[in-house]
Amino acid sequence: MMLSSDSLQSYLDIATEAALAGGAILQAYAGKVEIHEKGRPGDLVTAADKAAEAAILKVIQRHFPDHAILAEESGQVGADQSEFLWAIDPLDGTTNYAHQYPFFACSIGLLIQGIPSVGVIFDPSRQDLFRAARGLGATCNRQPIQVSQTATLSQSLLVTGFAYDRRETPDNNYAEFCHFTHLTQGVRRGGAASMDLAYVACGKLDGFWERGLSPWDMAAGVVIVEEAGGKVTAYDQGPFLINSGRILATNGFIHAALSQELGRIQPLPKNCLPDLI
Ligand code: IPD
Ligand code: CA
Ligand code: CA
Repeated sequence: MMLSSDSLQSYLDIATEAALAGGAILQAYAGKVEIHEKGRPGDLVTAADKAAEAAILKVIQRHFPDHAILAEESGQVGADQSEFLWAIDPLDGTTNYAHQYPFFACSIGLLIQGIPSVGVIFDPSRQDLFRAARGLGATCNRQPIQVSQTATLSQSLLVTGFAYDRRETPDNNYAEFCHFTHLTQGVRRGGAASMDLAYVACGKLDGFWERGLSPWDMAAGVVIVEEAGGKVTAYDQGPFLINSGRILATNGFIHAALSQELGRIQPLPKNCLPDLI
């Protein structure tokens, strides 16, 4: 489907309105919410996640009643057959938020015929608003952003994360974390995948990989990284698949090297791990 830049701009504007509404709620509730575990140990939810999601859904549904929505706390909402799917994480970085560590965001992506096409990530702690739509470029606080020019792994600063099933699977990303910590200037664990992607887009970080993610963690950030000149693929450089849980997103220059190294890594032997799995 060919969409005019006016239509993309209008989706972007509504996504922005929704992300700002969600972000205002996160700020209002900060430090005042009860924390609950959703199921897996460490997988937290608060009243703020739910209230922010309700505010976001209200905006999206008011403007686009026929669009499908996949939201972290409510699941699939509204129309289920639509070429438009909003992937919404009202609070990405709940663990950070629960501990009052100020690195979390509202992340709102729009997939059109399955392709991430519009993305807004709002960080209410810094009031940073990252936005992009396919073909329209990427901005932070309305100023154009670009990925870094770092050309080698040895000069790069990377970021990753560990999914909530990390205690249950040997494919928990610990080996990859060790490997890249040796090869680079450092690997950060941001705790909010959307912000990790936003920081790759604006060049503060050079690359991001992670497994076990959900579409709402990645949809917005993928568009923002690509529109900032970066590259997003599967670990093996094949096409990025939003339902695969895996992502490799970089400035482009270190992409092949990072992918090659990811392909070489074997899980840590069990006797190197804490006695958890
Ligand atoms: C989590 C964050 C984290 C990532 C986890 C996600 P949540 O999202 O993005 O960085 O490592 O896999 O589930 O639960 O805070 O919305
Ligand atoms: Ca998330
Ligand atoms: Ca969340």
